[in-house]
Amino acid sequence: MGIVTDQAELAQMRAACQTAATILDYIAPFIKPGVTTGELDRLCLEKMTEFGVKSATIGYAPPGHTPFPGAICTSVNHQICHGIPGDKVLKSGDALNIDVTVIKDGWFGDTSRMFHVGEPTILSRRLTDITFDCLWLGIQQVRPGATLGDIGHAIQKYAEKHGFSVVREFCGHGVGRKFHEDPQVLHYGKPGTGVKLVPGMIFTIEPMINAGRREIRQLADGWTVVTRDHSLSAQWEHTVLVTEDGYEVLTTSPEMQAPPAFITESTPTTVA
Ligand code: MF3
Ligand code: CO
Ligand code: CO
Repeated sequence: MGIVTDQAELAQMRAACQTAATILDYIAPFIKPGVTTGELDRLCLEKMTEFGVKSATIGYAPPGHTPFPGAICTSVNHQICHGIPGDKVLKSGDALNIDVTVIKDGWFGDTSRMFHVGEPTILSRRLTDITFDCLWLGIQQVRPGATLGDIGHAIQKYAEKHGFSVVREFCGHGVGRKFHEDPQVLHYGKPGTGVKLVPGMIFTIEPMINAGRREIRQLADGWTVVTRDHSLSAQWEHTVLVTEDGYEVLTTSPEMQAPPAFITESTPTTVA
């Protein structure tokens, strides 16, 4: 895992992360009943090209995988993550995660958000909101001396308290000059366990929370991951830097959803 403390390098990483977040700002108004996930992919790719950045997901092929075809991931309803954009038409009540990873000047910025298509169902709104709080409860743990277990525990405790479950097979990850590197940032765990955080670490926190059971299934397309019981799933993702006294969220943008009140009312560190 790379520790990044050089200010010029951090500025480049910040710029990559903010570009990814700005793509999400850009695509938001297009997410309406009748649009296809493929059209959202096309628009995002066009914007990336305009910004002079590359999609990190197009052609991404970790061992045992076929190259991912999309410029973004689009995961709808019971799809947990890595949904492939295509001819699926979105309808009112669908919940959609869009996950954007761009490469700018050799740095990877990785962030995802939930979007409601038309009117959300009550369950979908609740799951989406609680998953958002899970992300920020995890972020709130980040400071030198804290451990990855502190992050995982905060997320798991809150999700399970609300009767939801945490996906175990996928996790947050170190990120910077590579897409996925150490450490693995689990979204469950025990306080005080695991890797100790030090300033300059950069990783994602990206909890995947299911309304039903936590078990997953991989679709035959080789990528899309769904809930085995077909229950709804939600995910939010930020890329975070460990600072001298806490954290800095790197994947900020003008239109990102404001952090929950428990962050803004007690903020010791940098969010934007
Ligand atoms: N952006 C995802 C993450 O948060 C990874 C997507 S890989 C893909 O780690 F190939 F599915 F696009
Ligand atoms: Co990620
Ligand atoms: Co991502």
